[in-house]
Amino acid sequence: MIELDHNRIPEHIAIIMDGNGRWAKKRGLPRSAGHAAGAESFRRAARYCRAIGVEYLTVYAFSTENWKRPEDEVRGIMGLLRKYLDEALRDMEKEQTRLRFFGDLSLLTPELRELCERAEERSKNYPGGQVNICLNYGGRDEIVRAAKHWAAEGCPELTEELFGSYLYTADMPDPDLLIRPGGETRISNYLLWQLAYAEMYFSDVLWPDFDEREIDRAIAAFQSRDRRYGGVK
Ligand code: IPE
Ligand code: IPE
Ligand code: MG
Repeated sequence: MIELDHNRIPEHIAIIMDGNGRWAKKRGLPRSAGHAAGAESFRRAARYCRAIGVEYLTVYAFSTENWKRPEDEVRGIMGLLRKYLDEALRDMEKEQTRLRFFGDLSLLTPELRELCERAEERSKNYPGGQVNICLNYGGRDEIVRAAKHWAAEGCPELTEELFGSYLYTADMPDPDLLIRPGGETRISNYLLWQLAYAEMYFSDVLWPDFDEREIDRAIAAFQSRDRRYGGVK
């Protein structure tokens, strides 16, 4: 039994949803089955984080580098996203969760892009916490995009706050906790600016198996850390 301090639940959790392919391989299934199981794991995680009071959940669904994968795998992932978003649009009302998409959506199919935009628009005033889905997202791409916005505005006096306002996360706090399941201990171009002081939690459990108990473990680890932000205690 994992005891959590319910007064110290992280306000913002970021997750790199990794390990779908290996999960499928272990079972002798195609990688697409791993992605389907990963999508289910995501729905479950979103529901659970909401239930325990996490305000922001930001997940890495597809990186700017993931286009290097075989065409049929990419097509499969995009198909799953469409299916997931269709369902999400339906139960979003019930959960009252805001959905946002971070990343360059211009490379998605018009149909998928339209679904993303519709979901954002429909949910924008919902009070029930926020889920950010990173899609064709790269941390460097986000920083370059922010710099271009800044330049287009005539290069106003630059501060960290101002620069942060050009990022996808403009109106939200930085992640308190980064979770990476799947055994790799790198950040793979994820939220490079925003993770400056996040606590990192790496786990060998593959994403489709990363259930409520694993999330509790990650939060318990987070609660045991001493966040100093460069100061002393
Ligand atoms: C994460 O799982 C999903 C995406 C990157 C889209 P992977 O597909 O990377 O799974 P592994 O790392 O090969 O097991
Ligand atoms: C990171 O996982 C991207 C997502 C989970 C969407 P990858 O599987 O693409 O990362 P690497 O290749 O192991 O660094
Ligand atoms: Mg991977």
